Amino acid sequence: MDSVVVRDANEADLGALCLVRGPASGHEAKLQEAARGTMRFLVAVTGGEIVGFASLFVANPTTGPPKSHIPKLSDCFVAAWHRSRGVGRALVEAREGIARSQGLPRLYVGVDPIENARWFDFFRRRGYAVVQAQPYRKRELWLANSGRTEERLAWRQDLVLDLGRSSHAAPG
Ligand SMILES: CC(C)(COP(=O)(O)OP(=O)(O)OC[C@H]1O[C@@H](n2cnc3c(N)ncnc32)[C@H](O)[C@@H]1OP(=O)(O)O)[C@@H](O)C(=O)NCCC(=O)NCCS
Repeated sequence: MDSVVVRDANEADLGALCLVRGPASGHEAKLQEAARGTMRFLVAVTGGEIVGFASLFVANPTTGPPKSHIPKLSDCFVAAWHRSRGVGRALVEAREGIARSQGLPRLYVGVDPIENARWFDFFRRRGYAVVQAQPYRKRELWLANSGRTEERLAWRQDLVLDLGRSSHAAPG
């Protein structure tokens, strides 16, 4: 597989982002937040194609509910046909690098430890510590197969990485 380049998203990426996962309105909202400086909205590119995206909140968004923690990794998604090839890892490493370069002391992420146990274990192996001893329930918006955004009750557990103590990427 070609190497993965991670860079900030821009307006010209909208069409390609929607091919990875719609709707356009969600990506437009993230581009607006990025322009306001509350978040970094990143895309992963391989072979000249956008195959994934992810966000890093460095402040609470100007619209919608506040985040449980700041700074926080959010909304990481890789196109189904490009998964398990290191794209998700590259998106995590890029956002950790940004947090480190900004001198942030720690970095949070919220993961469903039941339905997404592999992804949860990935963060544990990178040195993230659990914030709550037990997972909690959270109402979230998700894109159903119908293409509509629906509300559902999901499990969530927050994790935190101490950026002062951790070195670079822990061995996978
Ligand atoms: C979770 C997800 C972002 C991982 O991206 P990826 O490019 O497939 O991941 P990578 O190949 O870089 O592997 C990194 C880790 O992700 C996990 N992972 C890999 N493939 C995965 C898959 N198909 N499904 C779930 N987790 C996966 C593994 O823990 C892996 O670590 P390991 O290789 O040390 O076991 C991607 O599978 C995805 O978009 N899933 C749907 C959306 C989602 O669940 N997002 C996360 C919550 S916001």
